[in-house]
Amino acid sequence: MLRHQFGWHRRFVPVPKRKQWDGIFVFYEVISMKTLGYYNGKFDEIENMTIPMIDRVSWFGDGIYEATYSHNHKIFDLDHHLTRFYNSAKILEINIPIPKDELAKLLAELVLKVDDGDQFVYMQCTRGSAPRNHIYDADMKGNLWVTLTPQPVADTYTPIDVITFEDKRFLYCNCKTLNLIPSVLGATAADRAGCKEAIFHRGDIVTECAHSNVSIFKDGKVITHPLDDKILPGTARIRLLAFAEKLGYETEEREYTLDELMNADEVIVHSTGSFCIPVAHVDGKPVGGKAPEMLKKIQDALVADFEEQCKAE
Ligand SMILES: Cc1ncc(COP(=O)(O)O)c(C=O)c1O
Repeated sequence: MLRHQFGWHRRFVPVPKRKQWDGIFVFYEVISMKTLGYYNGKFDEIENMTIPMIDRVSWFGDGIYEATYSHNHKIFDLDHHLTRFYNSAKILEINIPIPKDELAKLLAELVLKVDDGDQFVYMQCTRGSAPRNHIYDADMKGNLWVTLTPQPVADTYTPIDVITFEDKRFLYCNCKTLNLIPSVLGATAADRAGCKEAIFHRGDIVTECAHSNVSIFKDGKVITHPLDDKILPGTARIRLLAFAEKLGYETEEREYTLDELMNADEVIVHSTGSFCIPVAHVDGKPVGGKAPEMLKKIQDALVADFEEQCKAE
């Protein structure tokens, strides 16, 4: 408690004189950090960080990323995120410069350096640094980035409105790559329509959203797109299916149509920081609202899991 209150674990800067504090001699004064940007071992407030122009991210968006949250300075569901991070890297031949257990340790240390216990925890690894050339060396060393920005998770109980948006992405959607232009366009179109998400569809088939997965509830069953190269294997999707089954609901991983979405008992948008948000309107038309009990039970289980994983010590 004392450590958290006074931030001794955060950033230490030597001061010339010893200070006495509650009978303890302290050689350091604490500098608070609101945000944190990390790049290959250096870190500071994000706005003070600069990145070399030859990082391949500038030419090609050549990299992968992960995003989760911290609560009480503890990172939520980190193992699932790191598993996916190293899996995306493997598929794309990107060499993350440190092994998974070292990255977990580094992230756990970084979230203690910032003031706020609730952070958006973002990491990315770009392929490396070199002059512009499409062709890369297989042994290129990746550049590791981390950013921490104060942000709590969303309120999963408040319904949202969404739009539909044709899914024009390429077929590496199972990798969390930095090539996000279709998602940027979809999310912006949603925002301009006063909505929170864009539900992507390839023709008649619903895939996922600009920055979430989407599932439907129908007749006591959770139905969600199967894992393939058209969707990101969401970590919230893993938890949604696991908790639904634990609560006795059936789950089905199969393609479903826009028509099924519009006629579902509930339409659910889910991601790490949103858990299980119901959709109230799709393109201005009312949807869902027909399985409130099932919805509430699953939401409560997911929120309890988050609180348990990130409980204060
Ligand atoms: C395209 C896309 N699909 C799904 C998700 C949900 O993934 P997760 O549940 O791991 O947050 C995200 C999250 O960033 C995403 O960008």
